[in-house]
Amino acid sequence: MTKDLQGKRIVLGLSGGIACYKSAELVRRMIDLGASVDVVMTDAATHFITAVTMQALSGRPVFLDAWDARIPNNMPHIDLTRGADAVLIAPASADFMAKLVQGRADDLLSTLCLARACPLLVAPAMNREMWAAAPTQRNAEQLKRDGVMILGPGNGDQACGETGDGRMLEPAQLLAELVGFFQPKLLSGKRVLITAGPTVEPIDPVRVISNRSSGKTGYALARAAWEAGAEVTLISGPTALSTPHGVTRINVETAEQMYNAVLASAANQDIFIAVAAVADWRVAKVATDKIKKNADQPPELSFITNPDILATVAKLPNGPWCVGFAAETERLSEFAHEKRLRKGIPMLIGNLAQHVMDADHTTVSIFDMHGEHPLATSGKQDVARQLIHAIATRVDGTQA
Ligand code: CTP
Repeated sequence: MTKDLQGKRIVLGLSGGIACYKSAELVRRMIDLGASVDVVMTDAATHFITAVTMQALSGRPVFLDAWDARIPNNMPHIDLTRGADAVLIAPASADFMAKLVQGRADDLLSTLCLARACPLLVAPAMNREMWAAAPTQRNAEQLKRDGVMILGPGNGDQACGETGDGRMLEPAQLLAELVGFFQPKLLSGKRVLITAGPTVEPIDPVRVISNRSSGKTGYALARAAWEAGAEVTLISGPTALSTPHGVTRINVETAEQMYNAVLASAANQDIFIAVAAVADWRVAKVATDKIKKNADQPPELSFITNPDILATVAKLPNGPWCVGFAAETERLSEFAHEKRLRKGIPMLIGNLAQHVMDADHTTVSIFDMHGEHPLATSGKQDVARQLIHAIATRVDGTQA
């Protein structure tokens, strides 16, 4: 597991709401990612979850009121926030948001929000009517104007039995937001299109030809591009992976479907990263019925070459800045240079196929007009962030 919050000190504030039960999981996962977490709870929050639970999970004392004698100078609102990298309020009730807008300081959590010297992130959690109510919407807008980051809320079934906007984001989503918050916004305002995973080419209604691509590298790049502030669309063949938070995913199966989906949106994109292991060929005549087994005579399949998605996008007039991938089994440097030029793209990322398929670590080199730039072997998410950095620094300058 990558320690994406290593060295970060976070104050996690809980105000009153049934979503407090999700905060137990949240603090646990923040610790897993290396964060040090100080939990502060309002009186209302303690009606939903106990301080003991949060203390056991955070491994640190939990603070409930401004008169806590455990802090020698009796200034927990100052001591807890100095040196903190962020304050995250999850859940944030409608009442607590209203307090933040007014700058009230009548309990420890609201006081430390006012006294903080670090960013404030707020995850609203309330009934859909409370969220939609004009005062709450006004408060959310005002908080944004005050530089507070509002996370969510999500949409779906609510504890009250109603359905709509107002659910607190899930712990995994809040974690993605928090990790993303600390990443540099290198692609802010950019639109990034990524293909990932294998394609699946049918032989008949039950048989297919595919490849071993897991999609992990493409999904890691999608996540890293979103963390860098981009608007990300991921066009994916079948994988077992969940969609990275904040990313729009379009599912396809065949190379032709992937080609059509990419070309439908490529013109509006700033960057196109082709990571998918697209099948080079498809079966010329897909049988409409299952091909029956004949032991003496295996079927003979003939193939048609699939369109090259990357090369096509690279030729679009005013098309996006293109990045290709090459998984080779030998002579990486030679083949990668040649492939970059043949596809007409400014940047290609190459690796040895035996090192990457389905692994969590990867060893890649960047190939561009200046030559080969190897990156150190690392986890796929870490490498993806380095690649997004490399793309961001080249995107407005380099030509093929
Ligand atoms: N690619 C694509 N559409 C295809 C085939 C490949 O967009 N029909 C993209 C891949 O997503 C990847 C790069 O092109 O970015 C990989 O090219 P590859 O298919 O490996 O190269 P080939 O041209 O097939 O060369 P070779 O088979 O000799 O390796």
